[in-house]
Amino acid sequence: MACWLLRLVVVLTIITVGEGKQNAPQVCHPNDLKGLTSFKDGIHVDTSGRLAKWIGHSCCSWEGITCNQMTGRVTEIRLPGFISTNDFLFQSQMTGLLSPSLTLVSCLEVMDLGGLTGLAGRIPPLIGLCLPNLRKLYLYGNKLSGPVPDSIGKLSKLEELHLHENRLSGSLPSNLGNLKNLNQLLVYSNELTGMIPDSFKNLTNMKQMDLHSNILTGHIPDRIGEMQILEKLDLSKNLLRGKVPLSLANLNAISEMYLDTNHLEGEIPFPSSFGQLSSLCFLRLNDNHLTGRIPTNFGNMVSLQRVSLANNKIEGVIPSSLGNLSALTELYLSGNLLSGQIPKSVGELSQLIMFNASHNRIQGPLPQELSSLQNLQTLDLSFNQFNLISFPQCLAELPSLSRIYLAGCGIQGEILDFLQAAPSTIQELDLSANHLTGSLPAWLGSLTQLYKLNLSRNSLVSRIPDSVTNLQQLGLLDLHSNKLTGPINNVFQIGNAFSEGSLTYIDLSDNYFSAGIAQAGVGAQTGVQYLNLSHNFLKGRVATTIGRLKSLQTLDLSCNKLGFNLPEAFANVSSLEKLKLQKNQFTGRIPVGFLKLRKLKELDLSDNLLAGEIPEGKPLSNFPQSSYSGNKDLCGKPLIPCKVEV
Ligand SMILES: *[C@@H]1O[C@H](CO)[C@@H](O)[C@H](O)[C@H]1NC(C)=O
Ligand SMILES: *[C@@H]1O[C@H](CO)[C@@H](O)[C@H](O)[C@H]1NC(C)=O
Ligand SMILES: *[C@@H]1O[C@H](CO)[C@@H](O)[C@H](O)[C@H]1NC(C)=O
Ligand SMILES: *[C@@H]1O[C@H](CO)[C@@H](O)[C@H](O)[C@H]1NC(C)=O
Ligand SMILES: *[C@@H]1O[C@H](CO)[C@@H](O)[C@H](O)[C@H]1NC(C)=O
Ligand SMILES: *[C@@H]1O[C@H](CO)[C@@H](O)[C@H](O)[C@H]1NC(C)=O
Repeated sequence: MACWLLRLVVVLTIITVGEGKQNAPQVCHPNDLKGLTSFKDGIHVDTSGRLAKWIGHSCCSWEGITCNQMTGRVTEIRLPGFISTNDFLFQSQMTGLLSPSLTLVSCLEVMDLGGLTGLAGRIPPLIGLCLPNLRKLYLYGNKLSGPVPDSIGKLSKLEELHLHENRLSGSLPSNLGNLKNLNQLLVYSNELTGMIPDSFKNLTNMKQMDLHSNILTGHIPDRIGEMQILEKLDLSKNLLRGKVPLSLANLNAISEMYLDTNHLEGEIPFPSSFGQLSSLCFLRLNDNHLTGRIPTNFGNMVSLQRVSLANNKIEGVIPSSLGNLSALTELYLSGNLLSGQIPKSVGELSQLIMFNASHNRIQGPLPQELSSLQNLQTLDLSFNQFNLISFPQCLAELPSLSRIYLAGCGIQGEILDFLQAAPSTIQELDLSANHLTGSLPAWLGSLTQLYKLNLSRNSLVSRIPDSVTNLQQLGLLDLHSNKLTGPINNVFQIGNAFSEGSLTYIDLSDNYFSAGIAQAGVGAQTGVQYLNLSHNFLKGRVATTIGRLKSLQTLDLSCNKLGFNLPEAFANVSSLEKLKLQKNQFTGRIPVGFLKLRKLKELDLSDNLLAGEIPEGKPLSNFPQSSYSGNKDLCGKPLIPCKVEV
């Protein structure tokens, strides 16, 4: 009522004062003023400084406020946290409580308080009764808690509801299904529980529905398929059960469908006829309990660009119709029960960049046609039943291939030289758990882009070639469980001696290495976080340079022939969480510096020749007796007290 009365007054004002924001009404409607002032009073920090400029009574000229020129009433509040102008980008923050008095601004059409990060409190329960003109409500990216008010279902003009990334709880009100004009419903990353209301089938103007990362349960309502213009549906990361409804195949306009990380079961129900889901570009069904086969006409969904069916229980062969997906760039089929061979038609996927079919039961041989995948960058076929015997020649011809995962593929013989000649600059190479024999070739050092090298669990018999020191980019080196010999000092010299190296993970355990431990910490590799040299024949002492490995979290030197005193410098490896030194020949006392290893959670010093008192205090006294057992003469907590000298 007040709204209408005022409209008359304001029309007159505008006639005399003129148009535009510069000439906004001198005094704004008392309810608007009260609502906005209450909002401002609820905020105690505003890093953008916008609210500080809200002074006086002409609220229509305040920053972020828009009024209707005819009525003089406030129609828009736009104070998003992320401010972007031609000159700068700025993430601002408002901390405080969202005032329920904002509902006094009763002619509001747009409320944008999104991404302010610090707005707490509840969504005003009466919002749907007091703001009947609301078209866009953005409160995402804050700390709002409590329920999504029932009254929102009365906002018959609402088009966009963005409440994602808050702490909202309770269930989705069923009367949201009344919002005929709603086309964006984004409530993901909250703590919403309960079912997706059946009434949602009435949201026929819905274009984007995003409910992921809540605690929603129950079934996906069967008639969601009536949302004919739905473009994006994201229900991932909930606890949804039951089958994938067949009706989803009727979503003519859908381009993104994410149903991953739920408990969905049964078969993939679409497409059931040609032309269905022909706009679908991105499909995620991964991490569910889906069974059955991939539908033979899967290749009819011709717009597909990214598909993940990974980590289900899907069986049978990969259908050859997949070759029709000419726009496909990423295909994830890993962690299923797929069998048969890779179809030749895969060679037609000329846009394919990523193909992951690891952990299935697929058999060899690989089709020659793979050599047509000119854009393929990552290939993971690990742990299938390929029995490849030799490294597949067709891969050597792929110009873009930079990440090769062929672990557990039954590859025999020596590491072939053509890998060196391959046109691609290899970044990741995993040939672990095969039957490789022979030596680590010196040309490995020429793979200068190499970031990850995993040749573990083979039968390699050489030394580590000195050329590895050229691998400036190497981050992960895993050579465990081979028959490698000689010293390991060159590993610590990999990369650039003038900066902290890039290696973070070194596993050389379970080999026949005999020397080179003294160089740990001498070379460039001081950023190492994981170092496992256990089960070798390493001799000599651990040098004080070990103290330079400041990032080390796990150190395993167990089951070697290391001796002499443990260096006091261990105290400087302050990030250490796991220290395994058991089954060596260390002598002398446990350094007092060990008491500085505050992050230590696992310690094993058993079966050495240590003696004397265990330094008293945490963390050393927290470990079980077994951490110290089998030594020469250790005493003190947690072992028996030391004898007092008389
Ligand atoms: C959907 O809308 C129809 C007609 O407007 C109504 O009769 C029906 O009750 C609504 N369904 C649900 C589940 O709300
Ligand atoms: C799709 O693939 C199948 C099997 O490879 C083929 O027979 C069919 O002609 C293809 N359809 C289209 C429309 O390309
Ligand atoms: C392939 O998928 C598996 C399981 O989903 C995953 O663990 C692995 O890291 C993926 N491979 C690559 C190269 O990304
Ligand atoms: C190397 O491969 C083995 C066996 O396939 C695996 O267990 C290990 O985690 C891999 N290492 C790294 C660093 O990824
Ligand atoms: C180090 O390697 C050995 C042998 O490969 C393995 O058994 C052990 O678990 C590894 N240690 C740590 C701490 O990961
Ligand atoms: C530990 O580090 C400090 C400073 O980083 C250094 O002065 C000291 O010599 C180191 N101690 C040992 C025992 O290496």
